[in-house]
Amino acid sequence: MKKLPEIFANNRRWAEQITREQADFFPRLARQQAPKYLWIGCSDSRVPANQIMGLMPGEVFVHRNISNVVLDTDLNCMSVIQYAVDVLKVEHVIVCGHYGCGGVEAAWRDAHLGLIDDWLKHVQEVARRHRGELKALKQEPQQLARLCELNVAEQAAHVCRTKIVQGAWARGQPLTVHGWVYSLQDGLLRDLDVTVSGPDELPGG
Ligand code: CO
Repeated sequence: MKKLPEIFANNRRWAEQITREQADFFPRLARQQAPKYLWIGCSDSRVPANQIMGLMPGEVFVHRNISNVVLDTDLNCMSVIQYAVDVLKVEHVIVCGHYGCGGVEAAWRDAHLGLIDDWLKHVQEVARRHRGELKALKQEPQQLARLCELNVAEQAAHVCRTKIVQGAWARGQPLTVHGWVYSLQDGLLRDLDVTVSGPDELPGG
């Protein structure tokens, strides 16, 4: 584990390196951000949005919570989406889950871990809606992997149904919602092909 002074030393090296390569990088970014992507991902320390996508500071707006849940009653998540879509005018909203997600696993096993149990009820709701498909897989590793994917698809659909995204589409603003899943095993992203670019593409109307 790194000691805190080491982290500050790392930070100085990092800032110096970027400044060496691009002298105006920080002053330019300080004036404004214009990211094209909003990433909604899991809080898991192994799933850092910028690094996975190879993007620099300024290139992706980020919201993370346990198991990448999108709820229209979550003021935090909705404020991030609203600001990203209405003010920053991002062109892509990416909901990215990951295999091996501890939150998804706890939800599937109905684990009792404290306050987080209430949050994970939203993932359990996804499991309940797809119970038949999940039970048919029989082996738990496959069930968990599939639930990670189904959770992404459902949360991406929640993004599409928000007044914010519906409003953007209604006024003709280009905006696409994507569902991706990341593998901790190989560091690779997979597109789940649940991409939606307008209200007529929403599954189930
Ligand atoms: Co996770």
